[in-house]
Formats: sequence, structure tokens, C-alpha cells
Amino acid sequence: MSASTPSPPAGDRSAPAIHLRPARDADVAAIVPLLLRLKRLNEEFDPLLKVRDDAEAQARETVRGQLADPKAVVLVAEGSGADREKVVGFVRAVVRERPFYTPQFEGVIVDIYLLPLYRRRGVGEYLLAEVSSALKAKGAGVVTAEFPAQNEIAVRFYAKRGFRPVTSIHARPL
Ligand SMILES: CC(C)(COP(=O)(O)OP(=O)(O)OC[C@H]1O[C@@H](n2cnc3c(N)ncnc32)[C@H](O)[C@@H]1OP(=O)(O)O)[C@@H](O)C(=O)NCCC(=O)NCCS
Repeated sequence: MSASTPSPPAGDRSAPAIHLRPARDADVAAIVPLLLRLKRLNEEFDPLLKVRDDAEAQARETVRGQLADPKAVVLVAEGSGADREKVVGFVRAVVRERPFYTPQFEGVIVDIYLLPLYRRRGVGEYLLAEVSSALKAKGAGVVTAEFPAQNEIAVRFYAKRGFRPVTSIHARPL
């Protein structure tokens, strides 16, 4: 996963050079704003995903905790050119036990986010492939993704890579 440029997809879209690597403590400050952008995007899809006032502090604590958690995977994508060594995207995932089903462990992708300039060029696919390998190496026998049901881009992105709906979460306010 060291210096890495995803294979450009077919067509005239050239993939920007990115460098994908495991996140470290020094990346927390760069990951948090991207994570918040993603949560604010989620908020646009559903009022039940309204972002809390203390989300920034929560994001910092969550990411920090996951960097020390052997069951979590956090990868960052660094850009190229003017964005060299700048974090332009990240993916965050955790391995969870499935007490009643087999495979026993699932790797859950909870966040995947790229700055707009880096989208639609195969970088997301590369992030997905790398996080899937990392989850498999941690024992996951299946990989799943959590995202707002109304996020059609995410639906298409994952469907194109063979993901299908398995369970759904339905909600109503109380
Ligand atoms: C989801 C995301 C990581 C995908 O990364 P990406 O680099 O753009 O994806 P890729 O280039 O590898 O794959 C593109 C495929 O994803 C889907 N897709 C991505 N953007 C799309 C868009 N604006 N409209 C429709 N489909 C889209 C399509 O299937 C597309 O394939 P196509 O270009 O052949 O039509 C990126 O779009 C992103 O950061 N989005 C905002 C955050 C988000 O919604 N995250 C997912 C929920 S957690």
C-alpha cells in the first residue's frame, strides 16, 4: 500500500496520483474536518442524521481511539502536486463480530470520503480495495458498508463493486 496510484479507469478520466497509507496520530487534525464534511453531507439526506454541536470533539475522540484499536482500520489518501502530503481523503472501518452468522467477523466501512477534486477517477475504488484487504487481514470474512439510504451515489458506488443490500435499518423519531 506504499506509494500508490490507482490504475486509471477505462476512458479518458486519468486518475490523480494519490498515496494511500495507514493513518497515524498526526493525521487526526486533517481527518476530522473531512469526517465532519461527510457527516454534514449525511445530514442533507435525512433529518435523523442531524450533526451534533459537539461532533468535532466526538470525531477527534473517535478517530484517536480507532488509531489505537486493533479491530479498526483508518487509511488516509494524500494528494499530489500542490496537495502533496495533504490528506485529501480517508476511509474508516471496523471489524465486528456477528454472533449468529457466518462468516463470524464482518468488516464494516463506516466512512469513506474524498475531496471533490479527487472523485470519479477510480480513487474511491482503490480505497475500497485497500480497506477490504486490510479488513480481511484482520479476520473479516465479509465486508459491509454503512451509509444513508438516500445517498444514491454511495448506492451506485458500492453496487458497481458487487455490494448488495443485506439488512436495512428503518427509523422513526420518538
Ligand atoms: C463515494 C466516493 C468515496 C467514491 O469515490 P470516487 O473516487 O468518486 O469513486 P470511483 O471513481 O472509484 O467510482 C466511481 C463510481 O461511483 C459511482 N459514483 C461516484 N460519484 C457519482 C456521482 N456523482 N453520480 C453517480 N454515481 C457516482 C458510480 O458508480 C461511478 O462509476 P462511473 O464513474 O463508472 O459511473 C466519493 O464520491 C465521495 O467521497 N463522496 C462523498 C462522500 C460519500 O458519499 N461517501 C459514501 C457514503 S459513506
